[in-house]
Amino acid sequence: MTGDGGGATTAGDGDGTVTRDGGGGATAGDFSGLLARRTSWGRSDAIDRILSAANAPGVLSMAGGIPAPDSFPVARLAEVTDRVLSRSAASALQYAPTAGTTAMREAVARRAGETGAPVGPERAMVTGGSQQGLDLVARTLLDEGDLVALDDPSYLGAVQSFRGAGARLLPLPTDRDGMRTDVLAERLAAGARPKLVYVVPHFHNPTGGVLTTERRRDLAALADRYGFLIVEDDPYGDLAFEGERLPSTDVHGDRVIRLMSLSKTLCPGFRVAGLTAPAGLLGELVAAKQSSDLQTNTFGQHVLAELLGDPAFLPAHLARLRALYGGKARATAALLRERLPWLGFEDPRGGLFFWCSVDDPRVTSDLLYEHALAQGLALVPGAPFCVEQDGSRLLRLSFATLDEEQRREGVSRLATAFDKARADAY
Ligand SMILES: Cc1ncc(COP(=O)(O)O)c(C=O)c1O
Repeated sequence: MTGDGGGATTAGDGDGTVTRDGGGGATAGDFSGLLARRTSWGRSDAIDRILSAANAPGVLSMAGGIPAPDSFPVARLAEVTDRVLSRSAASALQYAPTAGTTAMREAVARRAGETGAPVGPERAMVTGGSQQGLDLVARTLLDEGDLVALDDPSYLGAVQSFRGAGARLLPLPTDRDGMRTDVLAERLAAGARPKLVYVVPHFHNPTGGVLTTERRRDLAALADRYGFLIVEDDPYGDLAFEGERLPSTDVHGDRVIRLMSLSKTLCPGFRVAGLTAPAGLLGELVAAKQSSDLQTNTFGQHVLAELLGDPAFLPAHLARLRALYGGKARATAALLRERLPWLGFEDPRGGLFFWCSVDDPRVTSDLLYEHALAQGLALVPGAPFCVEQDGSRLLRLSFATLDEEQRREGVSRLATAFDKARADAY
């Protein structure tokens, strides 16, 4: 590794650190004295640790929140990619505006209107995944000490963004019908003043809850009354196994920022998502994005805008996804019920997960996780998702990626893991 003009430097032991020969000063690799305070605020390596264990050879994973590879519209993407390169390479491979290409902003606004209140492209922008949307919202709106209300448990990536901006969290109980807006109302009446209320309105990660129309209406009314913004993060809304999706909270009020991931609807690899925001906020979010990455990848925007521009594509594609995931969810539920009587869960109505409880007083999900991993099965214990709630006997299982044979094998490994965990615990 090249030095920086001082003494010779050598690569460290494979962990990305650099060792300096012959100098005094800080210990090799220890830059903690230089780190900004905020680097420790939102930090959690729990999920990283769990997901890298899930990627070990021979491990079947029910851990990651990733879509099934056979859900990707590969043939259509190949066709559209060819077309974009042959017809519009000069612009598709060039820099693009920070807010997004015109065609992709139009596609985001169109999809927002189909699933919520009508929005013009001037209120839409493109982000590098909804995770970037969360980061932009946090950086734009939160000062150190500001309060963010959210379901407990919640999506860890959102918790990290809010905490990383120095926010305090106001955890609220949540159930099958989503956030308990009655409890939010009580907390507001008692003086709590969140700047943001964060919800995942459909098939919540991890609980699977769907925020009811009544609670959406309540939330919008509370936002008007108390002046907070609703951050509606909706990656799973397209994955309902039955029935129509409910319209976005923005049909009930205009204090809503919508994060519209395409990762589960199309594929995560392009890192292209939509965001819509009230007019007075969009420019601020775009300014934050400019200093972060200038723009989202132009080529991906061209490809996805072209694909979404075909009115026949999305309805047929979504019907296929719903059948695919609905089938996987039902088959997994039947197996879990047959083989694991100690596992409590509700049938998912959409999305990618089972949110489960271990119905044995001595077997914690951490203990089960360790034994499952030893058997070659990865799952996610509940505690990292929980803010205040006790997650020690909760866990999340994804049904999205395993095929039928792997599913049988995975459930069988989980059964063995439970027997061993129980033998340990009693
Ligand atoms: C609730 C929630 N929000 C946001 C994301 C991130 O989405 P994206 O891939 O668009 O960044 C995920 C990913 O799993 C998620 O579950």
